Amino acid sequence: MRQCYIAGNWKMNKTRAEAIDLARGLVTALKGGRHRYMIAPPFTSLDAVASVIRGTNIRLGAQNVACEESGAHTGEVSPLMLKDLGVRTVIIGHSERRHLYKEGDALINKKVRLALKHGFEVILCIGETLEEREAGKAQEICGSQTRLGLAGVTGDELDGVVIAYEPVWAIGTGKTATPEDAQGIHAFTRVTVAGLYGKAAAEKIIIQYGGSMKADNASALLAQPDIDGGLIGGAALTVDTFVPICLV
Ligand code: PGA
Repeated sequence: MRQCYIAGNWKMNKTRAEAIDLARGLVTALKGGRHRYMIAPPFTSLDAVASVIRGTNIRLGAQNVACEESGAHTGEVSPLMLKDLGVRTVIIGHSERRHLYKEGDALINKKVRLALKHGFEVILCIGETLEEREAGKAQEICGSQTRLGLAGVTGDELDGVVIAYEPVWAIGTGKTATPEDAQGIHAFTRVTVAGLYGKAAAEKIIIQYGGSMKADNASALLAQPDIDGGLIGGAALTVDTFVPICLV
């Protein structure tokens, strides 16, 4: 049985003081919660939030990671630096990284392999744009992002991978995929993973949905057989909007 996994991606929001506040609120509200929880504050608040959530049932994530360990990479943050702060999960290939910052599948794959080598849990994001969906290419795009993102990842390493299906047209727009549409891509993604790693591995892998998930649509999405959790953006920014999703 796959455990439901709810993750909050704070994106480029929150000063340090605001991040500490939100993390404190979540620690109290999620104590005893029955799902797995992760929050990914901006890099600048990781250290502060790490102190707040240490020893609780909330794990610490980063929103991105460099594809190299050290050296001349101005503006990048190494997996070694993240590990040092207590980060255990890294989000890789988020659509904002793919589309706004032009990260391609090869770079994303390099990050995935390096992060896994350093023992991080990786949340690999996949998802089609509206144009691709309207052209009937949603499966093709998600299939290829899955295959290219996981290239060279071994069956053992796959235990550290979570996939997040985030249709680009649903992110931050208030438009959510219908539970049935999302379920279709989730099931397809599980079949893709089965083709690469076998049926048992595919049954085990957690596939989150992301894209305007809110308290009022979370139950219906999470009730789908292949939707195993959520990667939440906007609604993860306050205790009042995030906690109800976490406690679904
Ligand atoms: P959203 O973002 O919940 O604000 O749509 C989801 C994400 O980008 O992870």
